[in-house]
Amino acid sequence: MFNKFVKPSKPAYAKILIHGAAGVGKTFFSLSHPGKGYLIDTEGGANHYADLFPNIEVLHTVEFDEIIKALDWLKNNAEPNSFLVFDSETIFWDALQYQKAQFMHGSEIRVKQLNLSDWGVIKRIVKNIHQMMNELDMDVIAIAHEKTNTTDAGGVLEYIPVGEQNIPYYFDMVMRMVKNGSTRRIEVLKNRLPNIITGEVIDVTCRTWGEAFEEVFPLMKRTEDDIVRDWNLKVVMVENKEQITALVRELDNVEMPEKAKEEIKEKFRWKYKKLSIIAKEA
Ligand SMILES: Nc1ncnc2c1ncn2[C@@H]1O[C@H](COP(=O)(O)OP(=O)(O)O)[C@@H](O)[C@H]1O
Ligand SMILES: [Mg+2]
Repeated sequence: MFNKFVKPSKPAYAKILIHGAAGVGKTFFSLSHPGKGYLIDTEGGANHYADLFPNIEVLHTVEFDEIIKALDWLKNNAEPNSFLVFDSETIFWDALQYQKAQFMHGSEIRVKQLNLSDWGVIKRIVKNIHQMMNELDMDVIAIAHEKTNTTDAGGVLEYIPVGEQNIPYYFDMVMRMVKNGSTRRIEVLKNRLPNIITGEVIDVTCRTWGEAFEEVFPLMKRTEDDIVRDWNLKVVMVENKEQITALVRELDNVEMPEKAKEEIKEKFRWKYKKLSIIAKEA
């Protein structure tokens, strides 16, 4: 006698790996997720973003034991409707290998009580960290640098994330971000979630994470504060006058407090003027 099978009732939060070349906008786009954000920053690049993302708290570390403590803290203390950005897998992996080398030379203080010279131990640390991310009741976005896999003739076969080799298997979805002129796209390379298909290409030019994925991840909801922040980010994202004109028109139909809307319009006007001056000088 058994109780019959039931569908798992736990909501599926998104666990996503995003890779791409330096400067395509991976960090900026990931941080534009709605809600309260936590950033584990191994890159040291988070400081320029403080003004734009008042909703984000940063932990700056490359140490695996600090990261494990942080994930444990998030499990018990994270605010509801929050998300985590891990930036980046690549620097984390580099740091871990550096620590392994230090350990083998005997210069790492052996307080961590783990035999870092053993690859099995290193793999287990990586696995443990990713299992902890998976168990969090929030969306998790991990960022990686990328490299190319080439054929013998030198042609590009595929782009792959740089980090521990099993990293992609820990995520439900793997995406690649590309920038081409003033357009930005997300390519869905691997996916186990409904509402989106592998191979799909999403145009994210002047769009935030919340706007791009609100149809895809039903648990993600934008509040009025998120919408106002999204529009402030769009002021930063615009790169030409055509984009500004289109967005200002779109803004007219967005529901938000009039005062916030006027402030954003004023910022767009200022940016438009700035772009005109740059165009004249060129
Ligand atoms: N969606 C965007 N639209 C316009 N500019 C952007 C966008 N995302 C990022 N940028 C600009 O590009 C710079 C690099 O972005 P960043 O997210 O740090 O890149 P990555 O993390 O991929 O190296 C940012 O400082 C910002 O000025
Ligand atoms: Mg970055």
